[in-house]
Amino acid sequence: MKIAIGCDHGGIDLKKVVLPLLEKLGHEVYDQGTNSTDSVDYPRFASAVCDMVVEKTCDRGILICGTGIGMSMAANRNNAIRAALCHDIFTARMSREHNNANILCLGARVIGPGLAEEVVKEWLATDFAEGRHLRRIEMF
Ligand code: RB5
Repeated sequence: MKIAIGCDHGGIDLKKVVLPLLEKLGHEVYDQGTNSTDSVDYPRFASAVCDMVVEKTCDRGILICGTGIGMSMAANRNNAIRAALCHDIFTARMSREHNNANILCLGARVIGPGLAEEVVKEWLATDFAEGRHLRRIEMF
């Protein structure tokens, strides 16, 4: 899969864990920054990742900030984006199965690296169930 990834200064440490995991799993990763701990504005990075997904340059995106909240709010301003903030394996799976989430948001100050890796793996491995769930996501 082609995966765009972006973070702010609050998310950079976790991106350093998630990005190599994606590569190890065989995905093609497009890093949209940031790549330093200097303070930056997360909506810029949310936008860059969303654009790659909306333009179909990438299949899915991952956004990481301190809590994941700002990234998910910013990403969901885009009508073609269904961004899900997930900090456990169940919601990661359901965000794909029921909501066809095309962006996963993570909070680096909320979740540890080990669980984050499992959440990412589950999110990438789960397919959309379609059926009634397709009708529902088409309503928003
Ligand atoms: C940055 O300090 C922090 O506000 C940001 O990473 C994120 O948590 C916003 O939602």
